[in-house]
Amino acid sequence: MKRTMTQSSTALSHTLLAAANALGEVESGRSLTDALARLRPDVRPGAQALAFYAMRHWGRASALRALLVERAPSHPVLLGLLGLSLCLLDVALQDEPHDPDAPSYTPHTLVDQSVSAAQSDRSLTPFKGLVNAVLRRFQRERAALLARLASDDAARYNHPAWWVAALRRDYPGQWEQLLEVDNAHPPLTLRVNTRRATRSQVTQAFADAGIYCADAGESGLVVLDPRPIASLPGYDLGWWSVQDAGAQLAAPLLDPKPGMRVLDACAAPGGKTAHLLELADVELTALDVDAQRLDRVGQNLARLGLMRKEVRLVVADAARPHAWWDGRGFDAVLADVPCTASGIVRRHPDIRWLRKPSDVGHTVRLQRQILDALWSVVAPGGKLLLVTCSIFPEEGEMQAKWFLSRHHEAVRLTAPGQLLPCASGPLDPAGHDGFFYALFSRPAAGQAPA
Ligand SMILES: C[S@@+](CC[C@H](N)C(=O)[O-])C[C@H]1O[C@@H](n2cnc3c(N)ncnc32)[C@H](O)[C@@H]1O
Repeated sequence: MKRTMTQSSTALSHTLLAAANALGEVESGRSLTDALARLRPDVRPGAQALAFYAMRHWGRASALRALLVERAPSHPVLLGLLGLSLCLLDVALQDEPHDPDAPSYTPHTLVDQSVSAAQSDRSLTPFKGLVNAVLRRFQRERAALLARLASDDAARYNHPAWWVAALRRDYPGQWEQLLEVDNAHPPLTLRVNTRRATRSQVTQAFADAGIYCADAGESGLVVLDPRPIASLPGYDLGWWSVQDAGAQLAAPLLDPKPGMRVLDACAAPGGKTAHLLELADVELTALDVDAQRLDRVGQNLARLGLMRKEVRLVVADAARPHAWWDGRGFDAVLADVPCTASGIVRRHPDIRWLRKPSDVGHTVRLQRQILDALWSVVAPGGKLLLVTCSIFPEEGEMQAKWFLSRHHEAVRLTAPGQLLPCASGPLDPAGHDGFFYALFSRPAAGQAPA
């Protein structure tokens, strides 16, 4: 049975326009998260739901738009509105929506409200006839237009064609499944702050509020009926943080012990920093090149009650240790380096559309500069953990091999390697994002390398 949303007409045209603005920002190369944050709070939740849905279907929507509009419009918000309205109309015209969570309106409402959205924005008004004509033609010719997209990979898989080709090459047996996971809804997974609460305490508090969770990994919980974060019990008390189950593997791999000198070299917003501090009373330096993002590390640690005098937050470039290092080696270094983020697409559905093939080479070079620099600050007997939230082997296994070929003294220890995103699994019943983990140790003085 088809679900039909009820929303007042004015409200729907406003929501469509707000979402089209956000999608237009993505078309101009900016992040959807930032674009949504700039919207008025009253339209944001509705616009976010529509924009997320559209990003997960943008390959098909863009290909349809290209068939229906001869020359791609240069107006980003118009691109956003056409793409969004085509996505939604496509669902409205399906007898049974393929995705039961798809926003669903009647075709008449959608066409009418999309034209109203264009009408209500001065820069779009001249295009309201175009919006109307495109949507009406799609209504009439949907089956024939979709048939023309049959061999278009970007339309079929809703990822750029270069991305589909890369996964097909690197994961011959799994690429379709990986693309599918990117379009699924991510679970809401939490990590319990064991300094403040036990997992059973949090589970009970949630159950008392009618919210049900399942255990995930060592100290995680997956919320079975997700809702706004701040409305979940214990947030202000610092009982838990939001963190994917795959990311929860990082801190334990470094096995922090009281008194250890630990460097979190790319720390913001501080998910793994907090986990390290929850596990042991270490002396920790959290570094990030972005001052604003590093502020969030401070805020997160304060909420979790983890800000101590042994914790130092430093705005600095990890690739230039002479500017921030006092010469004393670190026992553990976390290198959660910047990457394409190709492993977390289901949480950030815009990522695939923002990346270009050349970005992979760029992040690989940046990661190498950071890794080289960080290896020089690891104490004898100390460890370095390379982490990326990517599934591109260039940023994973190939990077680990490059590291070993360059630093012959480094010993590779056991770590998960490439963790592929999945929709269910042993770490978390609701699945986890994609990560790469490689752990290296520097032999202690007098210890022969393996
Ligand atoms: C993958 S995110 C880190 C996520 C974080 N570890 C967590 O678990 O919450 C990568 C971070 O690296 C930072 N970064 C990028 N280039 C850097 C550099 N040269 N030195 C230090 N930090 C850098 C970015 O600002 C970003 O916050």
